Amino acid sequence: MNTPAPLQPVRHYLQFSDLSADDYAHLFARAAEIKRKFKAYEKYHPLADRTLAMIFEKASTRTRVSFEAGMYQLGGSVVHLTTGDSQLGRAEPIEDSARVISRMTDLVMIRTYGQDKIEKFAQYSRVPVINGLTNEFHPCQILADIFTYIEHRGSIQGKVVAWVGDGNNMANTWLQAAELLGFTVHLSTPSGYEVDQAVAGLRSNASYQVFKDPLEACRGADLVTTDVWTSMGYEAENEARKKAFANWCVDTAMMHVAQPDALFMHCLPAHRGEEVSAEVIDGPQSVVWDEAENRMHVQKALMEFLLLGRVNA
Ligand code: CP
Ligand code: NVA
Repeated sequence: MNTPAPLQPVRHYLQFSDLSADDYAHLFARAAEIKRKFKAYEKYHPLADRTLAMIFEKASTRTRVSFEAGMYQLGGSVVHLTTGDSQLGRAEPIEDSARVISRMTDLVMIRTYGQDKIEKFAQYSRVPVINGLTNEFHPCQILADIFTYIEHRGSIQGKVVAWVGDGNNMANTWLQAAELLGFTVHLSTPSGYEVDQAVAGLRSNASYQVFKDPLEACRGADLVTTDVWTSMGYEAENEARKKAFANWCVDTAMMHVAQPDALFMHCLPAHRGEEVSAEVIDGPQSVVWDEAENRMHVQKALMEFLLLGRVNA
């Protein structure tokens, strides 16, 4: 068979806008229940006999551990592939890899470079494909971040999220989420590192405001968040970025102008003294460890949703 012929439409999670606000309400409720079961050591194996293929073309700690542990906890198993130890690194066409891998597994998670690669894989896959980070998007991370916000502060609707730093995959995904879930992003990026609205896949500029001064972006914010100055794949720009991003360090002055109960988040790994001061990331407003743990809970809810639909167990 040369073309994918799924018996029923396959739902992929390639960018945040692939799901509706209603789907997210379901996922956040499921993530809370799945987290409760995990904390209570309650066995929950809805994905028994299902296999997740994880393909990494870039390094990872959280994404690998959260997907792998999460899939085992749901009763399934995982296959881990990297570019270096598979034919993926030897130029086998993406469509061929997708056809083969998706005949032997039930779900595929991919971390790669261009969004076009994961989209092509999904086009030829018989099973759901999940974006575990591309140059353009990191939807599983924002899923975890918003779940973490809800756990600590309730609904994010109508709130202000300050983004301080690179107009990268994380920034793009925050902007998609704001458009879909009804909050505002205050965006401050160094000159030359702005978000590209077309790349971010936004319908309009209604859900964000741009600030030259990162301190002003944080004023009145309910959540302040940032990311590394140099994302994976951009290492050759490291020295230039260090100069350009020098003022884009989330420090106590920035947290002081935010709401008194503002949270601080970072997808991690973090570089203390670069994009965030140690005082902030290790301080009382930081929820980065909850945020990292929640990757696993929300992704378990996501895998359940993509394979079984709206479960209410
Ligand atoms: N935040 C995140 O995706 O971390 P890893 O790169 O360790 O997977
Ligand atoms: N923006 C970072 C996120 C790492 C989890 C990167 O793409 O490297």
